[in-house]
Amino acid sequence: MSQQTTNGAAPSAPTGPRVARLILDGRELELPVVIGSEGETGLDIMQLRAKTGAITLDQGYGNTGACESSITFIDGERGILRYRGYPIEELAEKADFVEVCHLLIYGELPNAKELADFTSRLTRHTLLHEDMKKFFEGYPGGAHPMAMLSAMVASLSAYYSEDDELDLNIVRLLAKAITIAAFSYKKNIGQPFMYPRNELSYCANFLHMMHAVPAEPFTVNPVFARVLNLLLILHADHEQNCSTSTVRMVGSSQANLFASIAAGICALWGPLHGGANQAVIEMLETIRQDGSNYKKYVEMAKDKDSGFRLMGFGHRVYKNFDPRASILKKAAAEVLGQLGIQDPLLDIAKALEEVALHDEFFVSRKLYPNVDFYSGVIYRAMGIPTNMFTVMFALGRLPGWIAHWREMRDDPKTRINRPRQIYTGATERAYKPVSER
Ligand code: CMC
Repeated sequence: MSQQTTNGAAPSAPTGPRVARLILDGRELELPVVIGSEGETGLDIMQLRAKTGAITLDQGYGNTGACESSITFIDGERGILRYRGYPIEELAEKADFVEVCHLLIYGELPNAKELADFTSRLTRHTLLHEDMKKFFEGYPGGAHPMAMLSAMVASLSAYYSEDDELDLNIVRLLAKAITIAAFSYKKNIGQPFMYPRNELSYCANFLHMMHAVPAEPFTVNPVFARVLNLLLILHADHEQNCSTSTVRMVGSSQANLFASIAAGICALWGPLHGGANQAVIEMLETIRQDGSNYKKYVEMAKDKDSGFRLMGFGHRVYKNFDPRASILKKAAAEVLGQLGIQDPLLDIAKALEEVALHDEFFVSRKLYPNVDFYSGVIYRAMGIPTNMFTVMFALGRLPGWIAHWREMRDDPKTRINRPRQIYTGATERAYKPVSER
């Protein structure tokens, strides 16, 4: 292991293993120190309750490591994000999303033969069982595509057995997800489903199923396919975020792959997580309709009583900048330029960012644009409607969820996830009959 780590922390103590000492009620407990490959330090508290009777309290898990993982490294202070050691900037510039799926799930970039095999399998498993089309009929018109996506992914477990080879189920999930996502959109707008086409790449196939209609030929704009590839790569993993932790949590009970990922999709839906990309565009649209008075909204975000937050701002982990947002800000300007689109929402977004980045409230709290701030502007330019934004995020995050589910399943240290609590309710009391209450 290299002695020079990214975050400057010492990789190991000079003499013997490091320990932390905890004193509770006069009794001392030694806590082993666990050091990650980039020097992050964790205190192993696995014996804490058995030896002291106490537990830790960490609402929101901001200080809690739930597992050891070799998939993704983030240094939030320095804006670093790496998948299996590869910087996100390099993958965003050079890689194909299918390669990144292989990298995240299997640990290495595929060689030419592995890539050809993996791509071919992903292409050949995109069809849904015809019966599944009937499920879509049952939804009301205008149903949110995230509701359909999560239900359909859970339903895959009704068709594909856990006893099948895991790699086959992984391929099925990645391949069928784009078909389910596109069908959810078609159902939402009342158009006929378009079947997958095997001559198209993963991203182009999805865009074709979304935008083509049977009545006329349709060619996918290569700029859209390229930018979708970029967006999916940027969303592909983000270590122990809310939805990934949900996937691990559900998977720890030995629930099957499809059920665990469906739970992750539901967790992603919330506006504080993946749902933020939809919320950002809705916020920018509100500001536009309000005469583009963005300063008013910055002031509202600073007023705790307003209940308003700048959507697409802030992050639990990034405290200087979100490297994905930096890439997307540049990409948004480029894509809109290439397409000759002038979107007033992009101008509002930039102005909002400029004001917030120089405002003491945001600076002191280290609040910066996150990945969701600019992604919506790009999706709009691609003709993707707002209610599909979080579905796009889910498609990107699939390989990350799968990689974590697989890592969790193969880790001999995995136990069912079962946090404790500090009980603050009533102490024991006797039941009273209704007449006495
Ligand atoms: N606008 C205004 N104030 C904010 C914002 C915001 N977007 N985000 C955080 N703050 C304030 C918050 O009020 C608090 O202030 P104080 O210390 O005075 O009480 C301080 O900053 C810390 O906020 P927090 O809520 O304790 O931070 P957190 O780490 O629990 O939450 C977050 C992180 C991303 C949920 C939050 O910043 C937020 O709600 N952002 C808006 C939603 C959003 O864009 N979510 C997408 C996240 S990135 C993609 C993903 O991971 O899914």
